[in-house]
Amino acid sequence: MSNQKIQPKRETFAGRKAFIMAAIGSAVGLGNIWRFPYTTYENGGGAFMIPYIVALLTAGIPLLFLDFAIGHRHRGGAPLSYRRFNKHFETFGWWQVLVNVIIGLYYAVVLGWAAIYTYFSFTKAWGEKPVDFFVGEFLKMGDIANGVSFEFVGMVVGPLLAMWIIALAVLAFGVQKGIAKTSGILMPVLVVMFVALVGYALTLPGAAKGLDALFTPNWEKLSDPSVWIAAYGQIFFSLSICFGIMITYASYLKKDSDLTGTGLVVGFANSSFEVLAGIGVFAALGFMAMAAGQEVSDVAKGGIGLAFFAFPTIINEAPFGSVLGVLFFGSLTFAALTSFISVIEVIISAVQDKLRTGRVQTTLIVGVPMMIVSTVLFGTTTGLQMLDVMDKFVNYFGIVAVAFVSLIAIVANEKLGLLGGHINATSSFKVGFVWRLCIVITTGILAFMLFSEGAKVFTEGYEGYPSWFVNTFGWGMAISLLVAAFLLSRLKWKDLNLAEHKVDKDFE
Ligand code: ALA
Repeated sequence: MSNQKIQPKRETFAGRKAFIMAAIGSAVGLGNIWRFPYTTYENGGGAFMIPYIVALLTAGIPLLFLDFAIGHRHRGGAPLSYRRFNKHFETFGWWQVLVNVIIGLYYAVVLGWAAIYTYFSFTKAWGEKPVDFFVGEFLKMGDIANGVSFEFVGMVVGPLLAMWIIALAVLAFGVQKGIAKTSGILMPVLVVMFVALVGYALTLPGAAKGLDALFTPNWEKLSDPSVWIAAYGQIFFSLSICFGIMITYASYLKKDSDLTGTGLVVGFANSSFEVLAGIGVFAALGFMAMAAGQEVSDVAKGGIGLAFFAFPTIINEAPFGSVLGVLFFGSLTFAALTSFISVIEVIISAVQDKLRTGRVQTTLIVGVPMMIVSTVLFGTTTGLQMLDVMDKFVNYFGIVAVAFVSLIAIVANEKLGLLGGHINATSSFKVGFVWRLCIVITTGILAFMLFSEGAKVFTEGYEGYPSWFVNTFGWGMAISLLVAAFLLSRLKWKDLNLAEHKVDKDFE
């Protein structure tokens, strides 16, 4: 049987630089800009750097190497890569794909908001009361006590569809011409814009107060397990590890690729960007606190509150506010767009492997239904609440659960040696016992994260949402993903040769 028949040509990145840009594009996203600064502040400030660096070195980088090894050795999207370990592991790959389906559905919405807020920044269209504007005029948020309403909100739907169309167009061009080219342009632009933003924020009065609040260490926090959990949670989402993205991207690497050297560049670049974001965001929050005669603790926020409540207020008050607005929301848009593209690519790659359909056709098969569902669910007056609950359950429980189960499968089936050998065959930085130990320990930490937080939400509920809402869009969705993943793994492969052949002949 010819090699060509077993493994029809798989797309590849043109080279190391293209791959690094795409991987950094995926890693640097909302996690870096709106999640890291507040997570740091909330979890011990400067002292948080200790669990964060421990989590980066013992879980982030080792698991990034692991994802790279799985994708590169098996040359497939997540389901194909897992199936090539063992037929029964295909479910884990589909579970990762489905986690990306949900993340993709709401990531697009935040991306749409960020894009339109870039435009709003020119005129400060949110007026004097940015919070009222965001929930009232912009989102037209309904009260879920009255049930879920699917009334469309024009100002949300327009940018949402536009972001879907842009991302799908990029994806239709393929791995090198679409993904790598786009990240190759947007990442340098993002860095320039963000450095300008941080430089500007540091000149604002009160900036030092903000940095003090961010970095003053609260050493006592280090004895609190939830602080360590926060550090690990941050690393998983932020580095895009353990949910299929880095497996998929590495499957497009050429045979002789330095997996660990590249992984170190991606891991440290992502964390550097994160720390930079912390400095910029807290310098701006320090200014906001000083302008309002308040403490930084009164104004510090993360996520939606930071981007859509605090920043518009800062932009209103800062000199050259519109410039600051364009820099902040523009950066958020570019960072989120390249991450969003990587999330959707996980799904496209998996479907392409299974159905052997062409790139454009697969982009449409995946993209159009998702665009419709995303608009119906989140372009409505209940969008914000749904996003909040789904984010918690998929972003936290989904990623942690899928990471835990797939690591158990790999560790228990003694695949670490095989993957380590694959890494060492081509990489500059060799892995060995310490790497394997880090992965085993991380598997235990994931189990702890899953059960401690699971028990908390199970007994206390989530953020006061009605239980029917949390059960349907939270637990219900999390469990259906697993069932759906199993069913998808039962579907027939169009090309069984591809699925059955363990690894590409070149790699054996
Ligand atoms: N890694 C991406 C982020 O940080 C998903 O947003």
